[in-house]
Amino acid sequence: MALPHTQIGGGGLHILVAEDIDGGYTVPNRGVFIHAVDGVSLTLERNEVLGIAGESGCGKSTLAKIIYGAVEPPLTVRRGRVLIEAGDKGFIDMLSCDRDTVRREIMWKTLSYIPQNSMNVLNPMKRIRDHFIETFKFHGMEIGKRDVVNYIREVFNSVGLPVDAINAYPHQLSGGMRQRIVIALALMLRPRVVLADEPTTAVDVVTQLGILSFLKEWQRSNKCSIIVISHDMGVHAYMDDRIAIMYAGNIVEYGEAEKVFMEPLHPYTKLLIESLIKRGERTLKKGILGSPPNLANPPPGCRFHPRCPYAMDVCRREEPPETIVGSRYRVRCWLYSRDGR
Ligand SMILES: Nc1ncnc2c1ncn2[C@@H]1O[C@H](COP(=O)(O)OP(=O)(O)OP(=O)(O)O)[C@@H](O)[C@H]1O
Ligand SMILES: [Mg+2]
Repeated sequence: MALPHTQIGGGGLHILVAEDIDGGYTVPNRGVFIHAVDGVSLTLERNEVLGIAGESGCGKSTLAKIIYGAVEPPLTVRRGRVLIEAGDKGFIDMLSCDRDTVRREIMWKTLSYIPQNSMNVLNPMKRIRDHFIETFKFHGMEIGKRDVVNYIREVFNSVGLPVDAINAYPHQLSGGMRQRIVIALALMLRPRVVLADEPTTAVDVVTQLGILSFLKEWQRSNKCSIIVISHDMGVHAYMDDRIAIMYAGNIVEYGEAEKVFMEPLHPYTKLLIESLIKRGERTLKKGILGSPPNLANPPPGCRFHPRCPYAMDVCRREEPPETIVGSRYRVRCWLYSRDGR
């Protein structure tokens, strides 16, 4: 399948391209559509960490499910493609390809998904080592028990897990340990893309740093790519090469993380970054005034206008167009539009 030429970042670099994704949840019997992802496009390049940031409820996990092709009612996709490079097969569209091919060719081997709250997905009836052995078997991999145990030892050491945890049942382990086991499982078949949704939300800050530095080191040494989803801007400051800021189903700013953190353009991004605690501060941060809109009935114009300190008349009336600011940067805000309104 040919790649679109309109994407940001130049040709040949991409390993995954999400194009104009539009999706959400149909609430049965009420005729309501919760428009969680509205016209989102992004690309993932080889050998990079791309962050997706934004407040709770802005559509990050919904976008992750769509990228992984995990689209089941009430979630529906109304438009868009998710192209992923699958070796000599070229680019496969996760949304239109048959599920058997996706399961056989893509999942775990090419694209691994660590869902939000995934520490709870481990089967309570099975020891940790059996989760690993069964995953290898499911993918028809010829591998002896000893090799599996060796892999587990190597990864457990890197993520700071005691090796004898392989003999435990999930309920015998702490949340942080279970989270690290889920991550080790996701990386087992050395996927080229990892989609990690809030991989450290449920753990303390020391464990968080351990997990994030392991992921980053693993990404560098395996030359793979990671999409890391988090509402925590501290996680993004540490992890990301590029970052997409989501607000109410839209990407409002997208570019190199260093630039976004140093000179954010969108008022929402500025407020998100200002809400980070800085060294020496001992105050509770106020956060951003107000709350994100109801996605079943978002406000007209720019969805952020009711909370935006710079809102102008046009913001209340019309959706802002996307403005390209340099070759690898874009922002969706009337303040930067060259439209002359
Ligand atoms: N199964 C569902 N049925 C109906 N609405 C849903 C469902 N899952 C999510 N939503 C709604 O879709 C919107 C986006 O939710 P989503 O989980 O994608 O946000 P998020 O950015 O991942 O939030 P968080 O940071 O809390 O994980 C929210 O309004 C949410 O209430
Ligand atoms: Mg989420």
